[in-house]
Amino acid sequence: MRLKASLAAFLLCLASLAATAQDKRPDQLVNGYEPKWWKEAVVYQIYPRSFQDSNGDGIGDLPGITQHLDYLQSLGVNVIWLSPHFDSPNADNGYDIRDYRKVMTEFGTMADFDTLLAGIKQRHMRLIIDLVVNHTSDEHQWFVMSRSSKTNPYRDFYIWRPGKVAPDGTRLPPNNYPSYFSGSAWQYDAPTKEYYLHYFAVKQPDLNWANPRVREEVFSLMRFWLDKGVSGFRMDVIPLISKPTGLPDLTPEQLKNPSATFANGPQLTEYLQQMNREVLSHYDDMTVGEAIGTTVAQTPSLVDDRRHELNMIFNFDAVRIGRAGGEGPRGAWTLPQLKAIYDAHATLLGKHDWDTVFLSNHDNPRLVSAFGDDSAAFRAPSAKLLETMILTLRGTPFLYQGDELGMTNYPFKSLADYNDIAVKNAYKARVETGQITPDVFFAATARISRDNARTPMQWDNSPEAGFTSGTHPWLAVNPNYPQINAAAEARDPDSVLTYTRRLIALRAHTPAFVYGDYQDLDPWHPHVFAYTRTLGPDTCLVIENFSSETIPYTLPNNLKAAHELLSNYPAAPEENTPTLHLQPWESRIYKQ
Ligand code: GLC
Ligand code: CA
Repeated sequence: MRLKASLAAFLLCLASLAATAQDKRPDQLVNGYEPKWWKEAVVYQIYPRSFQDSNGDGIGDLPGITQHLDYLQSLGVNVIWLSPHFDSPNADNGYDIRDYRKVMTEFGTMADFDTLLAGIKQRHMRLIIDLVVNHTSDEHQWFVMSRSSKTNPYRDFYIWRPGKVAPDGTRLPPNNYPSYFSGSAWQYDAPTKEYYLHYFAVKQPDLNWANPRVREEVFSLMRFWLDKGVSGFRMDVIPLISKPTGLPDLTPEQLKNPSATFANGPQLTEYLQQMNREVLSHYDDMTVGEAIGTTVAQTPSLVDDRRHELNMIFNFDAVRIGRAGGEGPRGAWTLPQLKAIYDAHATLLGKHDWDTVFLSNHDNPRLVSAFGDDSAAFRAPSAKLLETMILTLRGTPFLYQGDELGMTNYPFKSLADYNDIAVKNAYKARVETGQITPDVFFAATARISRDNARTPMQWDNSPEAGFTSGTHPWLAVNPNYPQINAAAEARDPDSVLTYTRRLIALRAHTPAFVYGDYQDLDPWHPHVFAYTRTLGPDTCLVIENFSSETIPYTLPNNLKAAHELLSNYPAAPEENTPTLHLQPWESRIYKQ
């Protein structure tokens, strides 16, 4: 790998040093965009359970994250998104919250949180936290009271309905909504003989956002964390908070993709605008909604800055490419299909909108295993290529812990290897009922399971990859840690980690990658992704070979590749030429 480190080469690619949020007056636009710190940021997601265990109990914790802040700073990321750190019985690893103002005991104390936040700020980074308010834990005090009687003042904090009765007298749920974690989305509750709604696990009852007291409680807990100094929120399944009017049965057609009906309900705009007015607009914060069930075309209705709702959303078209109905096993996908998704984003999101770029998180398989080639020969170059794409496409990039090392999927063998409730419930619902064989189930699950992303961070080649000093990590460490770990990669000038650091540094000095226009030069090429980012007189050209073959590639439109800034291969640069000889999974960035 080479980085033309000479200052002159860097300066060439700088659109204008002044084009950063810090030194812009708010009324000055950059290429039509209002400059904002969160548009210029690189975000790094931490799944605290799997990042670093500091006390040997096998569970990652907040002091563990604090130990690695220098590592994160040296990576060059600006914002850390922390997956839920709140008190929780962990039915869904913290996405089931029992107390929004308390730190999960296994993760530490509020003092540990304050230390972490102070350490992040000292290093000129920011922290955003996970706002999980479509549902709570069934152990949250609100639900404990809500389920206790029909007249309890908290009854209306959740969504209760009487069941139906079948002709033969059998009790049936109020409608046919399925849960994301298998089975019905309704749970019968004996004390009051009614059903409550839970889109996710039985232990995750959905809050009733139609109740203004629920909204006030949520706004108040948001202020609690913002006043502590966090810089915003990643909002869990936020388009689901407004439920379909009257909760009618889904039609057979709607049942094929329930999210499309569950998401973006009739009151969503009202709720988000109230949240923005009463909370968000009073802070210098950033928000990113997990926009399950939301199309690219619907995105502006959540993020257009004239609407005063959210700053950005995650759209799942790219990360879930090839998965039937959004949730099924990953099928075949082609590069032109992926390019068409990014093209749709570029076409449908305008200067008042802002996009995100990500291809992995704690709910998806590992970046390199899902989109690259994790075989020994091509793991490193394909991981570098994917990082290149994420950091140079249009939108704020989100990296997931371990992808900067090129961590891979885990070699799952049996049900016992999994922790995720989604897998356990699906096994019961599909295999134990005889719908599919264990072989079919495990073949698909091993590739797409969320647990692939949740195995512990691989820090070094000591036992358990340095994740824990104990012998029982909560989820097994990937056996490839002696080869793939942060310590080894930090010493290796050709590692995925070293490359990612250089790439982030290049992006930090290249406003064209933030505010520049995007153009796909060759949408139909089956293996090469070639695009430009242009800001004023400055154009950067990015070329990526999405294949394990060597490809001679001639640029379209009489274009020549000019000055090479970065490549993921250690070869002499090819410059001022229309034809490039691309190695397997080679990616290059040129200044035109
Ligand atoms: C989101 C989270 C996921 C969780 C679900 C329910 O999709 O990312 O991890 O299981 O919401 O909270
Ligand atoms: Ca611990």
